[in-house]
Amino acid sequence: MIQFVSNKGGGQPVDFETAILDGFASDGGLYVPTELPKISIEELRQWKDYSYTEVAYEVLSKFIDKTVIAEKELKQLLADSFSAFYHPQLIPNYALKSAPSFYIQELFHGPTLSFKDVAMGFVVNLFNFFLKKRGEQMSIIVATTGDTGPAAAHASIGKAHLNTWVLYPKELITEEQERQMTTISAPNVFAVGVSNCPDGADDLDVLIADLFGDKAFKQQLNLSSVNSINWGRVMMQTVHYFYGYLQTVDRVGEPLNFAVPSGAFGNLCAGSLARMMGLPVGKFIIANNQNACLHRIFTQGIFLKKDIIACQASAIDILIPYNFWRYLYFAIGQKPEKIKAWIAEFEKTGKVHFDRATFESFSKGYLADVISDEQTLATIKSVFEKEAYLLDPHAAVAVTAAHNLASKLSPNTKTLCLATAHPCKFPESIKLALGVELEELPATAKHESVEEAKMHCQRIYSCDYENMKTAIRRSMQNSMN
Ligand SMILES: Cc1ncc(COP(=O)(O)O)c(C=O)c1O
Repeated sequence: MIQFVSNKGGGQPVDFETAILDGFASDGGLYVPTELPKISIEELRQWKDYSYTEVAYEVLSKFIDKTVIAEKELKQLLADSFSAFYHPQLIPNYALKSAPSFYIQELFHGPTLSFKDVAMGFVVNLFNFFLKKRGEQMSIIVATTGDTGPAAAHASIGKAHLNTWVLYPKELITEEQERQMTTISAPNVFAVGVSNCPDGADDLDVLIADLFGDKAFKQQLNLSSVNSINWGRVMMQTVHYFYGYLQTVDRVGEPLNFAVPSGAFGNLCAGSLARMMGLPVGKFIIANNQNACLHRIFTQGIFLKKDIIACQASAIDILIPYNFWRYLYFAIGQKPEKIKAWIAEFEKTGKVHFDRATFESFSKGYLADVISDEQTLATIKSVFEKEAYLLDPHAAVAVTAAHNLASKLSPNTKTLCLATAHPCKFPESIKLALGVELEELPATAKHESVEEAKMHCQRIYSCDYENMKTAIRRSMQNSMN
């Protein structure tokens, strides 16, 4: 049975249930499986015509033993997790007409219209499933750049065993994203807007790590997290790479490139693990906005924190791609003592410059690009004008990077660009891109659920960055009384 250990090497191996419910490993590291299961080309061929949930069942079964979750239970959990999706195929592909070898993987048909729904619904259901069995209550806390929060809040509605706290940087997400969290009336969901965060959502990640470090508080609240620090999120996100691959290639076995708009590297960590498990990937294209943190890592070998820049693709305004450490653990051959030392160095100095051998072992098979707001908006406009297809700013970052790097891709290899959010979550960007007024936005820039959220009052907890440590702690403790 696969067990789970910290990528920093501390603590004892734990089982799947513990890894999920703990969130962070006991030494503050990220849980990783002791081995990555392999998926053969023959298996992939058998899955060629499977639905998304069928592929998900096969991939997850490699990580979850039947004695932990029985076949019937896992199938039911998957069915429940995707029942609120708006598209019958759950994750359809769109073939770009203006760029014949480019495809768009539409990951935004879930209840809160971003790719976060794909893994979040399942992970929250998994929490509730384990807690119900144990007869326990838990508090989960997540930080969001605008999409994780709505997905976690929505998935938690009606989950009797969970209280869910979503923290967001108040001025740095769109009103549409905020309303997706604050118009939920479920008594177990709490949305907290934090004003004046100098480093955006990264500040909130630091606060969460801090709360986890306080053993008494963690125990009092029975605290966990469903950010992509949680192994369950990364594991579940491997599935859309397998499914997208099967949907796109003509012949199973041929390589496929993936262009991924990236921030904390959760999504691309999942893709990278899928490749290590056997998925035939040509190149991964890391698409950064001007915050460029992953570009620096993958082109110069430098992990460095700079000041945040507010970009149109705001959900990837991230400075610390913490899931890179989870990927690096595998890329260098499972050496936790090295990961621990690099993380300590980063925490002390704000910078790690990787040695040549390490850089070569983690950067092979990756291309990276930094996309400006001007380029992002120009791509939205040109794709819309050419084929009346509307990209959101994040998908536009991915498509632009794929275009820019096309000469470095093998000819005749297809490229799947991950569309991680619905354009209706970013109306101001779409308005700027198309040069129209809000009232003139095309129908595809709207969604009924976002329009409906405008008709509800918001319920917000709010505090200032300066006081957030005490304020959030107190609110969480009060909610227990
Ligand atoms: C729309 C959108 N695209 C891309 C990302 C980046 O994903 P990751 O942080 O896993 O790299 C996010 C996450 O915050 C997102 O909300």
